[in-house]
Amino acid sequence: MTQFDQARDQALSDIAAAGDVEALERLRVALLGKKGSISEMMRALGGMAPDERREHGQRLNVLKDVVAGALESRRTALEDAALDARLARERIDVTLPARPESEGCIHPISQTMDEVIAIFAEMGFAVAEGPDIEDDFHNFTALNFPPGHPARQMHDTFFLPERADGTRLVMRTHTSPVQVRTMLTQKPPIRIVAPGRTYRCDSDMTHTPMFHQVEGLVIDKTTHMGHLKGCLIEFVKTYFEVDRLPVRFRPSFFPFTEPSAEMDIGCSRGKDSLKIGDGADWLEILGCGMVHPNVLANCGIDAEDYQGFAFGLGLERIAMLKYGIPDLRTFFEADLRWLRHYGFAALDVPSLAGGLAR
Ligand code: PHE
Repeated sequence: MTQFDQARDQALSDIAAAGDVEALERLRVALLGKKGSISEMMRALGGMAPDERREHGQRLNVLKDVVAGALESRRTALEDAALDARLARERIDVTLPARPESEGCIHPISQTMDEVIAIFAEMGFAVAEGPDIEDDFHNFTALNFPPGHPARQMHDTFFLPERADGTRLVMRTHTSPVQVRTMLTQKPPIRIVAPGRTYRCDSDMTHTPMFHQVEGLVIDKTTHMGHLKGCLIEFVKTYFEVDRLPVRFRPSFFPFTEPSAEMDIGCSRGKDSLKIGDGADWLEILGCGMVHPNVLANCGIDAEDYQGFAFGLGLERIAMLKYGIPDLRTFFEADLRWLRHYGFAALDVPSLAGGLAR
């Protein structure tokens, strides 16, 4: 057996024994790489006599071809085997029964927020947001609450600890500071709704220290009380899905609107029931009014050129009325049985076309 036969047999058995693509690659380098054994034999040709060189050269070329061929076919075999193994591993049994539906559902507050946004989006309102922690300026002063005004106490404000400069941040008592933030950063015409959390130091059957509001603000050149009424009447009818819904606007007071009003909707009360729509009774549903000229001025809007309306409503309240949820506090108890009962399917996104709530 010549040295070429020996080298070939050794190489072929090593190649056959290579267990994976990486081992095979190391072998290729050891045989045919720059410093590989076959390349070394090639280099040795240089020092030979011409005849010997020719004969060795031919044999070496054959050896090189055989080894390269064997490497190539072993590589293909290993890659095929790896692919087969992966296909077997990732096999999906399409005959298995479907996985059960996921357990989660949408909280009635999120659902109600989405419904309210869907209705106002259809009317051309954009969504705005502001921080839960506010300063006195945005929560009170800019909204025309004079310093020391009793209305500041009216809100049962949660104050944060005093800062070095003597001022105290507050947990926002309403979403109205988003009016201020919007007017300070956007030029009219403005049409926004601002949903979010609000905080008041109050806790009983009908009050929780944290609750949700949606604020609305419209500012334009000729916006008037008729627009306010039309917009809100349209909203309550769509939200409660009642066509013949009596409404009334009662005079009220807020420092940041003039005139101010509260909106009531008609209802009928039975012994243990409450029905929204025609009936002998009224239910207060939201506060609203024309934005006070002082507020416009505080936000750098010229009250000679612009005017508009604002409203604020409590989300828990309208959710309780629409979905027959009797107790406010249950919203925040995180009781899974309650959530399964009153929650909504995650894929039922409210829209005016597809139905607000199913
Ligand atoms: N911010 C008022 C409240 O929380 C509601 C309101 C908003 C009234 C906008 C008028 C205009 O009671």
